[in-house]
Amino acid sequence: MTMTMSAPPTAAEIAELNREYTFFDWAAQGAVNPVAVERAEGSYLYDHDGRRLLDLNAQLMNVNIGHQHPAVVEAIKVQADKLCYVNPRFASRPRGELGRELAEITPGSLCKSFFTLGGAEATDHAVKIARLATGRQKIVARRRSYHGSTYGALSLTGEARRWATEPGIPGIVRAADPYPYRCRFCSDGPDCDVTCAQRCADDIAEVIRLEGPNHVAAVILEPIAGANGVIVPPDGYLQRVREICDEYGVLLIADEVMTGFCRTGRWFAVEHWDVEPDIMTISKGLTSGTVPLGAVVVTDEIAHHFEDNPLWAGLTYGAHTLACAAALATIQAYRDEGIPERVVDMGEMLKDEYAAMAARHPSIGEARSLGLFSALELVRNRETREPLVPQIEPAFENYGVMKEMFGYILQRGVVTMTRWNWLMVNPPLTITPEELREGLAVVDEALELADQNTV
Ligand SMILES: Cc1ncc(COP(=O)(O)O)c(C=O)c1O
Repeated sequence: MTMTMSAPPTAAEIAELNREYTFFDWAAQGAVNPVAVERAEGSYLYDHDGRRLLDLNAQLMNVNIGHQHPAVVEAIKVQADKLCYVNPRFASRPRGELGRELAEITPGSLCKSFFTLGGAEATDHAVKIARLATGRQKIVARRRSYHGSTYGALSLTGEARRWATEPGIPGIVRAADPYPYRCRFCSDGPDCDVTCAQRCADDIAEVIRLEGPNHVAAVILEPIAGANGVIVPPDGYLQRVREICDEYGVLLIADEVMTGFCRTGRWFAVEHWDVEPDIMTISKGLTSGTVPLGAVVVTDEIAHHFEDNPLWAGLTYGAHTLACAAALATIQAYRDEGIPERVVDMGEMLKDEYAAMAARHPSIGEARSLGLFSALELVRNRETREPLVPQIEPAFENYGVMKEMFGYILQRGVVTMTRWNWLMVNPPLTITPEELREGLAVVDEALELADQNTV
């Protein structure tokens, strides 16, 4: 008997295998050129050719405690040995303990969770729960927003990725969002913070009034719009939205899928403004990317509604035991490693680095950050604020000089995310100061390309 020993496939062969037989996200498939990743550790990925890549965006802003965190990997193994799966109509220890943990760490009276497989499903179920609990249909969503790729979540999404799904699900109405750098109400004038906070929040109030408060179930918003440029709202905005919701008896859904789990230096971004939502959606950092999991967390009042009324929702893989075990270990790691405090310190360092970069690069229009949640908004002209590439291109892929920059950064061994005229830096929250400086030095080099396109 002869045995043939075939050589392991190369990175290029694996990439081609993926391209030939599987679809990639948000792209014309012919343009896709993926990196074939073999393994990862901490802040680094390693491709099949053994090349090391610094992960400066925690993948999709989700690998918050770094790749292959040993305690989380161990917790998954231990759970896998005992019970990989049980029908979600059964109870399991990791699920119950995770529900209790989430009631503990989420703000206010949020106390009961419905588990999903990710963020988009959490959005869909948050809307369903809001509609069931209020008996109303309409949902106010913002223009510059992203809530996920399922039909419902994309219908709620304000930005261009919604277009392919239109007309989408009915009952969604849109309001303005605060984007001080490009505010249509106040153009970043001297009172911008006050004006933006008030006028943009009042736009929500007007939409509710015009749509009929008795028909509006909820307002959904990302406390900090993430995929749409990391737009940190002015102080007072979220508090005002909370007041408006209370005034009209409308529920507030905070989509913390990207902002949650210490990304901004608090467990959840709403804490920066002491706002307590009625419903919170979470995912990403919940398991730090190890096993798919999302959740809709609701207040005791909403939970009470479902004591006597059925919750019309169920997912074969809901409350998956492996995912719940991974989440419990991840939350423990945030605590043990003092991640929120760490993010506050590293966030200060990032701000300082950005200030120095902005002084060197005329292409930086605005550097926005809170904790380790950040984006550089790049412009052709600082005076006019003309974006470096237009913000209306419907394709999600990078284009123009942003594509060149992304390619340059990758070729220098750093993974980040660019979209429209934003360059995102959202590393694992466990990144060391040296690693962060190493990554920013490459971004700094790439900004020369952007500077060449300024006028
Ligand atoms: C704010 C927000 N909500 C929802 C989602 C959707 O999450 P998922 O991709 O896990 O479905 C995302 C994903 O980026 C997001 O940023």
